[in-house]
Amino acid sequence: MSKVTVVGAGNVGSNAARRVAESNLADEVVMIDIVEGLPQGLALDINHSAPVVGFETRVRGTNDYADTAGSEVVVITAGRPRTPGMSRMDLLDVNSEIVGGVTQQIAEHSPDAVLIVVSNPLDEMTYLASVVSGFPKERVIGMAGVLDSARLRFFIAEKLNVDPTSVEAMTLGSHGEQMVALPRHATVGGKPLPELVSEEDLQQLFERTRGAGGEIVGHLKKGSAFYAPAASSAAMVTAILADDAGEVLPMSAWTTGQYGISDVYLGVPGRLGKGGVQEIVELELNADEIAQLTEAAEAIRAKCQELDARRS
Ligand code: NAI
Ligand code: 2OP
Repeated sequence: MSKVTVVGAGNVGSNAARRVAESNLADEVVMIDIVEGLPQGLALDINHSAPVVGFETRVRGTNDYADTAGSEVVVITAGRPRTPGMSRMDLLDVNSEIVGGVTQQIAEHSPDAVLIVVSNPLDEMTYLASVVSGFPKERVIGMAGVLDSARLRFFIAEKLNVDPTSVEAMTLGSHGEQMVALPRHATVGGKPLPELVSEEDLQQLFERTRGAGGEIVGHLKKGSAFYAPAASSAAMVTAILADDAGEVLPMSAWTTGQYGISDVYLGVPGRLGKGGVQEIVELELNADEIAQLTEAAEAIRAKCQELDARRS
């Protein structure tokens, strides 16, 4: 029986749970939150949509970790979102406490799970979950690259007035200022992107992508984006459950020498399947792209060292 747990029944968590249920790949999706009644009510609401949407997965809402036991995949969305004027890094202290506590409970009840961390600051929270769980690194990953790449793909499609699914593009690096865009690897209907837009337009598209999360916070005022983050998280869950490892998805994964970078969580392309990361894919990058990726890795490493120092 395949069981998926989503920790945090807030905007991202509840929408991710709904999308995983709709994929019909899991027997059960458990949503857990500290707020009593919230996951129970939302789970019932999602279950009521089953006959309309057409899925057999059962969603269960709970405040008790015993109900999450034996999960195959756990998505951690618990934590505070940003509000206007806040950077993702401003959430480091408050979300470290939350993600650390949640991970301890999950590791105890689902020792064989693959953890997908969503809470911000993303790369640092993924590192924390890996340290606290003690799980093999291939079983702890972070979701950001699927979202950032989707934003870039959408902005390119909007600019060229084409179907967003005809655009292939990927961002690597960090979920933040050191996001690395790869124009040379982007295509639209199979054509290289740099042949279709000017250098100036490319830079504008990348800048808007880098700031897209903040742009949405600016509109919403009370929280951050959730539809695309939930869809992106669910895409990672379904890649694991489907276990075909065909698609290359960008994710925050533990590096072991790829791109000349080691021992740090970083946005890199990879293949997912049962048991988590099956392979980190090494694209052909030029010296400038490697330098940007290395800069992102070192910024994440420094923050993780700060986290280690605070926890010791
Ligand atoms: P939200 O405020 O709607 O939901 C957070 C939920 O976590 C709330 O229901 C809250 O009760 C719950 N929670 C807090 N402490 C908990 C604990 N100890 N155990 C269980 N549940 C707990 O926030 P939203 O919009 O769902 O965002 C969640 C997190 O995801 C934020 O940190 C946000 O920055 C991050 N995020 C990351 C993205 C990414 O690309 N990696 C994209 C979007 C959001
Ligand atoms: C985003 O990029 C808040 O990290 C979240 O929308």
